[in-house]
Amino acid sequence: MDHFAYRNSELCCERVSLRALAAHVGTPAYVYSKAALLESYRAYDGAFAEVPHVVCYSIKANANLGVLGTLARAGAGADIVSGGELFRALRAGFPPSKIIFDGVGKTRDELREALKAEILMFNVESRSELRALDEVAREMGVRAPVALRVNPDVDPQTHQYIATGLKTSKFGIPIAQALEAYEEAASREGVQVMGVDMHIGSQLTKASPFADALARLAALVKALRERGTEVRMVDVGGGLGIRYREETPPTHREYAMVLLPALRELGVTVLLEPGRSIVGNAGILLTRVLYRKDTGDKRFVVVDAAMNDLIRPALYDSYHEIRPVDAARLGDPMESVDVVGPVCESGDFLAKDRELAAAEEGDLLAVMSAGAYGFVMSSNYNTRPRAVEVLVDGDRYTIVRRRETYEDLVAGETTL
Ligand code: LLP
Repeated sequence: MDHFAYRNSELCCERVSLRALAAHVGTPAYVYSKAALLESYRAYDGAFAEVPHVVCYSIKANANLGVLGTLARAGAGADIVSGGELFRALRAGFPPSKIIFDGVGKTRDELREALKAEILMFNVESRSELRALDEVAREMGVRAPVALRVNPDVDPQTHQYIATGLKTSKFGIPIAQALEAYEEAASREGVQVMGVDMHIGSQLTKASPFADALARLAALVKALRERGTEVRMVDVGGGLGIRYREETPPTHREYAMVLLPALRELGVTVLLEPGRSIVGNAGILLTRVLYRKDTGDKRFVVVDAAMNDLIRPALYDSYHEIRPVDAARLGDPMESVDVVGPVCESGDFLAKDRELAAAEEGDLLAVMSAGAYGFVMSSNYNTRPRAVEVLVDGDRYTIVRRRETYEDLVAGETTL
């Protein structure tokens, strides 16, 4: 997270002091670095430069229009999973010709909207969905470009909630049934087979599951070609992990090196769907210490961000590094604390039994690596307004989503 570093004794995002920022926009606040976003996008783009490719940023990881617009202008495509994400993608300026539509449960309305927008490809996850898409497309008098998402039955070796490539998961069409499903696709007037797709899981820290899965997909592509089905695109999904703590995930280049030989041989256009590895380490959650509490058994640092702002620790037991904004604190003695929020649940924690430089009331803390699956998974639980989102560019910043107001929270509700 090079774009979040100490300068003049305080933690900064690029050249913006987080202390000064908090004074202006308040806390909790999500803060994103534009330079970090562009760096990771360009690292992907460069790593796959030798083959025709589109890096379709997976919008679900961070769907803020400021983030999306930045990536769209840099030339990225988008991977969407809902009508809402299609709306955001178009609003942010992604060309429809670079948008792919994933997900196990696309509704007919969503299929219609995406056909109307003329997106690049639908990644179809079941034969039922294939039939629905065929019907909707024929009603509209068009042909839907499709890939089938194939489940290669490979263990991605990640948290069970975000592993998708095993045959016991709800995702994709089992590879053993793929040829049959492709035969059905080829026979349907409303769809046009374009490619093959996979996505085996998220936060993968090893390259070998990607390679194993792609080898299975490549064998399928060859079998399809032997049967006369043209396959022009291979979508390798997302899932490359990031460093939260001591993980050592492959770099973009190492990841590309593992996949490129098979992709080159197939002579296809490569689609990528990275989410976390583009935005994860480009963002932090900035929070202020409200209180301290020592129960005799445990020490708590109560902060103004909670599980409604960042649910990952509660949901996946995930680790986010926490740094003091004031560098002087780094010299203070360390203590073991739970960093908790104001929400009325014991599951409301950002860190447990964490060795932290003693944090006092009023201190600012940065919860690191929070750019992906942070704000997008936040809620209004306990009727807490969702945090402000800020995009930093050099020594300037823009509020790319204002903090919600109480009025926002009740908009659309009725008092009887
Ligand atoms: N493509 C598909 C079809 C996906 O389902 C996902 C993520 C991605 C691409 C992007 O994966 P990434 O590059 O970000 O790993 N909320 C969880 C992560 C859920 C991932 C869901 N699918 C977390 O906070 O760890």
